[in-house]
Amino acid sequence: MLIRRATPDDAGTMSAIATATFIETFGHLYPPEDLEYFLRTCYAPEAQREELQDPRKAMWLLENDGVAIGHAAAGPCGLPHPEVQADDGELKRLYVLREFHNAGLGAQLMDAAMDWLLREGPRTLWVGVWSQNFGAQRFYARYGFAKAGEYHFPVGNTLDDEFILRRPAGPAG
Ligand SMILES: CC(C)(COP(=O)(O)OP(=O)(O)OC[C@H]1O[C@@H](n2cnc3c(N)ncnc32)[C@H](O)[C@@H]1OP(=O)(O)O)[C@@H](O)C(=O)NCCC(=O)NCCS
Repeated sequence: MLIRRATPDDAGTMSAIATATFIETFGHLYPPEDLEYFLRTCYAPEAQREELQDPRKAMWLLENDGVAIGHAAAGPCGLPHPEVQADDGELKRLYVLREFHNAGLGAQLMDAAMDWLLREGPRTLWVGVWSQNFGAQRFYARYGFAKAGEYHFPVGNTLDDEFILRRPAGPAG
């Protein structure tokens, strides 16, 4: 297993693993046209290349024998919470293919993203998580994230109920 920072040349690979993991995790929740619209606008190779070229963002690929089986993405916080500050960071995506779950690989990807997010020292971090995704909520709680609000995440015309989790910069918040 290898975790490496993705480059713009990985746009196609990132598109494929982001699409596969999103469908596997959440595909059943949406009408097909909403899912298709979301994947086409957000996860297409051109969209991924743009994100990979953005110096304020970073993405990682988790590879098994050179084949992508997971990914993570981080950058400036774009979540709609009134207390978000310009310098705050956000874990934007964290996905491992289901057949590789519960082997500590998500934690390794998370560590890579956290190291990058905190590379210049402590700061407040945020993550958005589906309200019913209890496994991921447990996972993030172990890293010090706690619920700070709620919002609606659009997938096509479907609006997901999402929790906004925050990890304070300092130990006591
Ligand atoms: C969240 C995720 C990346 C963790 O990866 P992993 O390699 O299984 O993680 P680890 O082995 O390091 O840790 C296991 C923990 O992951 C969480 N988890 C397990 N299965 C999960 C699932 N199907 N969905 C979400 N989280 C899950 C749990 O907290 C679990 O620990 P616990 O059940 O003992 O409390 C992985 O479960 C995943 O890709 N889930 C689907 C996508 C997802 O929900 N991503 C988060 C979007 S905000």
